[in-house]
Formats: sequence, C-alpha cells, structure tokens
Amino acid sequence: MKTLKKVKAPIVEALISAYNKHSYHFHIPGHTRGNGVYETFKNFMGEKFFQCDMTDEFDGIGTLNPPTGPIKEAEELCAELFGAQKSLFLLNGSTVGNIAIAMALSLQGKKIIVNRNCHRSVLTGMIISGAEPLWVNPDKLDDWSLWGKINPRDIENLLNTHNDVEMVWLTNPTYEGVVSDIETISKICKKHNVPLVVDEAHGTLWKFNKELPTPSLDLGADIVVQSFHKTGGSMAQTSVLHIAKNTQFDVEALVHSLRLLQTTSPSIILLAGLDAARANLETEEGLNNIQIAIDNAKYLSSKIEDLNHIKQLKQEPCDPTKIFIKADNLSGKQLETILEEDYNIEVEAASDRGILLLSNIGNEKKDFEYLADCLKDVDSKDYTKLTKENKKHMPMLIPKIKMNLREAFYSEKEEVKKEDAIGRISAEVIAECPPGIAILLPGELITQEHLPYLEDYSVLEVVKQ
Ligand SMILES: Cc1ncc(COP(=O)(O)O)c(C=O)c1O
Repeated sequence: MKTLKKVKAPIVEALISAYNKHSYHFHIPGHTRGNGVYETFKNFMGEKFFQCDMTDEFDGIGTLNPPTGPIKEAEELCAELFGAQKSLFLLNGSTVGNIAIAMALSLQGKKIIVNRNCHRSVLTGMIISGAEPLWVNPDKLDDWSLWGKINPRDIENLLNTHNDVEMVWLTNPTYEGVVSDIETISKICKKHNVPLVVDEAHGTLWKFNKELPTPSLDLGADIVVQSFHKTGGSMAQTSVLHIAKNTQFDVEALVHSLRLLQTTSPSIILLAGLDAARANLETEEGLNNIQIAIDNAKYLSSKIEDLNHIKQLKQEPCDPTKIFIKADNLSGKQLETILEEDYNIEVEAASDRGILLLSNIGNEKKDFEYLADCLKDVDSKDYTKLTKENKKHMPMLIPKIKMNLREAFYSEKEEVKKEDAIGRISAEVIAECPPGIAILLPGELITQEHLPYLEDYSVLEVVKQ
C-alpha cells in the first residue's frame, strides 16, 4: 500500500505488541484471552478477536481517562489531522459526546438555541442539564417529508431577541445529507459572542475531499462531534469529539463531564478501530476510497436520472454520498421492503416518502451496478395495488412546548392510553431510530397530529395532572 507519509497508529501498534507478548493474566476481562468464552461464539468470531479483547491500563496500552500512553498519542494525532485543539475518543458513540456537551456547557435554566430535528442524545443532554432550549425549525422539504436547511436568519433573530444565550447547538448535515450554511451561522455566533456546537455525526469524511462539504471545525465551530463509525471506517459505537483551537468554551469542564460518563473499562479493539480509521485517512488508499465512494454515488445518481418513477433528492450544497430517493406510489418503508425481500438489498433508512442509501468507503462499484439494475427493475413494475400504509415515520411536527424538558421528565407521571393522552403533556422522549428525531419530547403538548407516528404505542407517559 502506498502512503503519503509514514503513518502512525499508536493504539494499533500497542495492541499488536500486547497480543504478541506472552504473559500470565490475572485481570479483566475475565474471559482471559478467550479461554472463558462460550465455544460456539469463540469459534464463530475467531480466537484472535478474544485474544485482542483487552481494556486499557495493561500491557503498555495507556489509559483513556485521563489519556496517557498510546491512547493519548492517538488522540493527539487525531486532533492534528482534524485541526483541533483536542480530539477526545468516545466509546458510546456521538451520543455520549452530546450528553457530555450538555452537562458541561448548558447549565440549568440557561438558554441554548437548538434545531427541532436534533438527535435524541441532544434531548437526553438537555434533560440531564436542565437547559432551556430555544427551538429553531429548519426548512421543511414537504415533497420529501424531510427536514431541510437551518436558516441563518432564524439564528440571528433569536440571538437578537435573547441576549442571554449560552450556546448555539446545531445538527449538520441532516441524516439525509442536507447541509446548512454553517459559515454564515458561525459568523453570526461570533458577532454575538456565543459559541457554536455542531453535531456533525454524519460528516466525518468531509475534511478529506473537496467534493464534500467543508467541515464545521474549519468554518469556526467551537465543538464538533463526529460518529467515526457511521462513515469514517471505525467500528460501531466509536466517535470523536473535537474541540476547536480558539474556543471560548470551558474545555476542562467538557473533559470532566466526559470522564464522568465514559466507561472505566474501554475496549482496546474499539479504540484501535478509531486509531486505525484516523490512520487510514492519512493513506493514499484511504483517500482514494473516499473518491471512489463519491464517484459511485455520482454513477448511481446518473442512473436514477434515467428512471421514470424514482427520483433523487437534490439540494445544494449536499453530501453527495448520501442518496435519498423516492418512488411514485410507494412509501419509503414499502420501497425498503421491496428492495430487501426481492433483491437482498439493505438500505440505511426508510422514511414516509423515501429511502436513504449511503455510498461508503467500503462499497465497490459492482455494488452500485447491482443497485442501479435493481432500481431500474423496480421502476418498471406496477406497485399500485399495494395497500397504502398510515404510519408516519419522520417526525415533522413543530412541538408545542408547555414545560421545561427536565422538569417534565422528572415530574410525577402517569401512563394513559394513547387516545386519552391528547391534550396532556408528554413526560418521555419518543424518538425512533433512525433517525432518532423526537416524535414527542418531555414537556410537549400531545395532539391529534402525533397519532399517525405512534401506531406502535398503546400507552404514553404523561405529566400527572
Ligand atoms: C445527527 C445525529 N447525532 C447523533 C447521533 C448519535 O450518534 P451515535 O450513534 O454515534 O451515538 C446520531 C445517530 O444516528 C445522529 O444521527
């Protein structure tokens, strides 16, 4: 493999040395290099996996909290590559990063500006911290049943009306790859001297190809969370929280919150996966794979152009590796089921109107050739006889907020039948994943309009009257 420079991967290297060293182990994990694992599982996974399953502290691997040794070095290499002051490895996904941000930086009763379609982990953070959200509703793409861009003017208006906002906390891009004007929003935040946090869970690769949008860290955001596992090539549940070089945030408060929340037994396999994903982005092959993902997405888009009944969402700017399509006469869930059952295709997500397909660094051109052929086949068939489904999936309602999130969540509650819950105040978060956007949040008035989203629920938890 050709590389642009000598690439280091300290955790990967420490893991290899620990694996090769013969030692006697009297510590966790108690399966002791796989000896104590259920045989069927071990045989399926392979012995090596369990021999590598170690936690920090042992065998010269360093520690995560606080970062020492190879783990510290790996975080520093990550910060250098992404242009951050600090990059902190997260082992419960961007979820734990968002909760730590809220805990450290949005204190009880303090106002923060948040987009309505934020991920449920942002809500969890606000339930814990007690912050007072000022909601921003992005544009609605009604033909697609999707949320669109956040309008910078809405942020400016809120900052003009409230002079005590602690931070602006936005999601960019949306799950479907719609990109907001973070550059303008960042300038507005700086003018008002309010820090900007961006949940960039779906934008890990942006720094590494000019055809992808510019990462928020390069546009002046103070803190950015990225789910490396979503697109960056690390394993599930591994993410990174980047802190900008010149942030006004209390960096130590954030580091301390994270220390309270993260596991004390971090998996070296997962940490090595993060280290390897970062290292891969410094290799020619890693960068080529991003270009291939973009080219594959363009290829698929060009094939979709030729279809009669299947259309692709087109927004500028956008992340071209996220392809959202809809088919005439089919809901997104129906299209998902057809692709799964008739063609063995697993899509990223399905919503009311369409499905989300990702062109990833691990995909090959032939995957897209197959997908394009299958879509052509679907396009030629008549599905008009399929029964329409009533359930709605993508929460598009503008919440009517009656109570603070934390107050409602910790209030005295009762369970009531869904139909009897209309007019009551929700005491729980209902947000199905994907996309993890709230159908109901604590403190929100429950209305008739919520019912089509709640078909799978018979009772709801509401604030006791
Ligand atoms: C916008 C957004 N933020 C945060 C998260 C949580 O990320 P993770 O799964 O890495 O915890 C998700 C997950 O889907 C997401 O879509």
